[in-house]
Amino acid sequence: MPTRINPSILAADFANLEHELGRIRNADLVHVDVMDNHFVPNLTFGLQMVTRLQEVSPIPLDVHLMMDDPDRWAPAYAEAGAFSVTFHVEAASEPIVLARSLRDRGARAGLAIKPGTPVEPYLEMIEEFDQVLVMTVEPGFGGQSFIRSTMPKLATLADAVRESGADIWLQVDGGITAETIAIAAEAGADTFVAGSAVFTADDPDEAILALRAAAAS
Ligand code: DX5
Ligand code: ZN
Repeated sequence: MPTRINPSILAADFANLEHELGRIRNADLVHVDVMDNHFVPNLTFGLQMVTRLQEVSPIPLDVHLMMDDPDRWAPAYAEAGAFSVTFHVEAASEPIVLARSLRDRGARAGLAIKPGTPVEPYLEMIEEFDQVLVMTVEPGFGGQSFIRSTMPKLATLADAVRESGADIWLQVDGGITAETIAIAAEAGADTFVAGSAVFTADDPDEAILALRAAAAS
């Protein structure tokens, strides 16, 4: 199974984002955390910023929308050229309609699930998605500790994906380190978001290689 490492620029220097992109050449995708201060108690950046990042980034963008009313906003991120657009099931009114709209616009559709949200009600819709993101911290901030009790949910999803036969990536986000990445990989994740573990390292590109090796161990 391929291992994807997606550094989160939430932990990067916001004053030098283009330069920061040059320090993560080993990344598979660049994870971009959009927060609206309503769905989560933090505010980052929005469509204009992501559009500009998309223009300068040599690496495709993996946009994670932590916002209310993604039904209204998410399609514009796909139109801006994001490789993938992931919205929260807790916030969407019509997740299937929205997933189809993202795919129609050429983006991979992603479904995100907070740590306390059960996955069972959504298993029957996973084939509408290209990736499912299991939050391994409460969304809103980088630098938090990995919540290990989310792992059974990942295993449930991995079973459902296997049964479906569809190529759906299973992503984890929050508290991913060289230690926790192996736990998440073991539970079935193949795509790993890491903010602090990459950008607080002296050499972010080396940190990405170390995470990739740890996931495979
Ligand atoms: C948290 C964000 C994460 C965050 C992860 O709400 O969705 O993508 O950047 O940061 P670390 O890796 O530091 O936990
Ligand atoms: Zn994220």
